Amino acid sequence: MLVLGIETSCDDTAVALYDADRGLLCHLRYSQIKLHESFGGIVPELSSRDHASKLMPLLLELFKKTEKNWRDLTAIAYTAGPGLIGALLTGAALARALAYSLNIPCLGVHHMEGHLLAPMLEQNKPEFPFIALLVSGGHTLLVEVNAIGNYRILGQSVDDAAGEAFDKTARVIGLAYPGGPLLAKLAEQGIPNSYTFPRPMTQQPGLDFSFSGLKTHAVNTWDHSDKSEQAKANIAHAFQEAVVDTLIIKCRRALEQTGLNRLVIAGGVSANLMLRSRLKQVMDDVGGDVFYPALEFCTDNAAMIAYAGFMRLKQGECDDDNVQIRPRWPLEELV
Ligand code: KG4
Ligand code: ZN
Repeated sequence: MLVLGIETSCDDTAVALYDADRGLLCHLRYSQIKLHESFGGIVPELSSRDHASKLMPLLLELFKKTEKNWRDLTAIAYTAGPGLIGALLTGAALARALAYSLNIPCLGVHHMEGHLLAPMLEQNKPEFPFIALLVSGGHTLLVEVNAIGNYRILGQSVDDAAGEAFDKTARVIGLAYPGGPLLAKLAEQGIPNSYTFPRPMTQQPGLDFSFSGLKTHAVNTWDHSDKSEQAKANIAHAFQEAVVDTLIIKCRRALEQTGLNRLVIAGGVSANLMLRSRLKQVMDDVGGDVFYPALEFCTDNAAMIAYAGFMRLKQGECDDDNVQIRPRWPLEELV
């Protein structure tokens, strides 16, 4: 089975080929960051137009690199949601048209399931069941994963997602979009303990998150600072510490509550090196294991979509011929 994966849910145009026997053959990604940078955030219409113009050239490059062609494909998986409606439609329309003309199965994949399964692309894969911390620009979720499609949401953000809070805080202190990785880099220059930021919702029971107050706290601290480069780095440091600490407290709680000892982290914020190293330390301490995707598979990519699609297609799942997208698609509704 050779599955073509297509990802266009947000600001990355991505394609990948996953082979049942050989694993991931190749994945390519074109980032729209430059296109949106001057606006300080994603402009949906520009995003859709850019996906539409970049998808075909990227696909042809993928075939060239892998020495494959249309006729070698046995199935297609594309991101059907959640995401930007116009952006999703570009990938869905291409996937459906191709599948129809090649007369092969096609399946719409849940973007967060793609993230959740991304660590499975590594040599050292987690076995079911495990706890997954999904931290991206749009989601913060703690999920008990028992099998493909058997997901129990244990906790989620009641307001801003972790990545969103990173990006908004970064924007206020003058960093470019998307600010998460830039803020993380700047934090390395920060003097530890210059500020102590709150660890929201950790004093009360439960596994939900709230990052909007933390973002406001960072903004207020910035407003009252001398606005020097050092103050900026110190705020970045305190903010990152608070987010990482909060995520870790909730992960530990989820592991205790479920009695599980395997933890998976995925989504854009799982590229955060401080989060990765702290979680490794915590899991070593409690005698558990932590699994994360390679850095290139933390942020949006099509390898995870091809893989998630492959796992479902091989169980016989397949959609009808309609172009199907679900811009809002809660993970709980996935079976
Ligand atoms: O998963 P992703 O590529 O897109 C969504 O599905 O949202 O995640 C993007 C998010 C952005 O908010 C970005 O700032 C954040 O992940 N991010 C990071 C880091 N790298 C990416 N946040 C903190 N530290 C990083 N190193
Ligand atoms: Zn994503």
